[in-house]
Amino acid sequence: MSVLRVIEVEAASRTYEVVIGRDALSSRADRLSVRAPRGRAVVVADTAALSHHATRLHQAFDAAGLGLEIIEIEGGEGAKTWTSLEFLCDRLLALNVERSEPVIAFGGGTVGDLTGFASAILKRGTRFIQIPTTLLAQVDSSVGGKTGINTSHGKNLIGAFHQPDLVIADTAFLDTLPRREVLAGYAEIVKAGLIQDAPLFDRLETQGVDAVTGDGLVQAIADAVAFKARIVAEDERESGVRALLNLGHTFGHAFEAEADKGALIHGEAVACGLALAFRYSARLGACSSKDAERVARHLQTVGLPARISELPGGPYDAARLLSRMGDDKKNSGGAITLILARGIGDAFITRETDRDDLAAFLSSEVED
Ligand SMILES: NC(=O)c1ccc[n+]([C@@H]2O[C@H](COP(=O)([O-])OP(=O)(O)OC[C@H]3O[C@@H](n4cnc5c(N)ncnc54)[C@H](O)[C@@H]3O)[C@@H](O)[C@H]2O)c1
Repeated sequence: MSVLRVIEVEAASRTYEVVIGRDALSSRADRLSVRAPRGRAVVVADTAALSHHATRLHQAFDAAGLGLEIIEIEGGEGAKTWTSLEFLCDRLLALNVERSEPVIAFGGGTVGDLTGFASAILKRGTRFIQIPTTLLAQVDSSVGGKTGINTSHGKNLIGAFHQPDLVIADTAFLDTLPRREVLAGYAEIVKAGLIQDAPLFDRLETQGVDAVTGDGLVQAIADAVAFKARIVAEDERESGVRALLNLGHTFGHAFEAEADKGALIHGEAVACGLALAFRYSARLGACSSKDAERVARHLQTVGLPARISELPGGPYDAARLLSRMGDDKKNSGGAITLILARGIGDAFITRETDRDDLAAFLSSEVED
């Protein structure tokens, strides 16, 4: 039996465990059965993840003595729509899911965000369990209770905070993840290093993607989850420090909103956003150009985009990107809030972005 790591998330509204490791799902089947009062598990499953891992899923729930009701959703941003939300809520209501029953998300961040939001609003809130099947979802989106969908106005603008009761990050599910999706998850680990953990970034520079493909995988996920758990414990509802987790995301969400449909994935948008946040910080004199170059070099070395011209789904227009950034959830009083950095591992929040200067920066980046 391989080693399991357990991280406790002490959010203000709920404390729960994140269990990480190979075969974590079958090892912790007992944790599922005590949470399923009707002897059944209602699982909202990503179609691709299910196609690879149906047997493993069935075995684990059989071992827990639970019958399975599976609702399939195709993963990807197309899952985070009003239409999918309506479909899912209808299916959950047809199954007469009770508030005390957990709705279980089995998939990447998109299926997790959608399922969590459906669980938050169904009968004013049911229990919720996450079984993330992408690296991005294991290191980031399954933890912290942010749920939601996208609209034509932008990413994640409709949603709720709804913490899970339990997260099981079974690394065996990552065996079938395409390389592009592994890199997307890696970008969120880089983000954690850049925000507050310079030694983590140093390590990633040395090991590159090997940090998440070899023996260090469980440790890398545990480090990223522990980092996020600390921030969520301090500020569950993002009234302060939690906004730091959005480093690279204000730029990234603008790219996602502008990209050709289906062409750009979240982790790629975040990667380029991280490079931009550092270059913009250097432009303002907040951090050194050397640090900004170091960040871009590392992203490019592992195969992630660090320039707008390297992003799929373009071309991108500076004025449209700026307008998208103006729609971001973190903004207040009409000013754009940005997460910037004083250096690697030292991010900060600024609510006083000069719009004209940001416009000039974006124009130069688009032309670069
Ligand atoms: N809630 C949060 O705190 C939070 C944090 C970060 C990101 N997010 C959101 O997460 C989403 C991105 O999540 P993602 O990167 O997991 O994308 P995703 O859910 O689209 O999954 C990526 C792709 O991998 C496939 N897939 C899933 N599991 C698989 C497996 N085991 N084997 C093979 N293929 C598999 C999916 O079908 C999909 O095509 C974005 O919408 C982003 O906004 C949320």
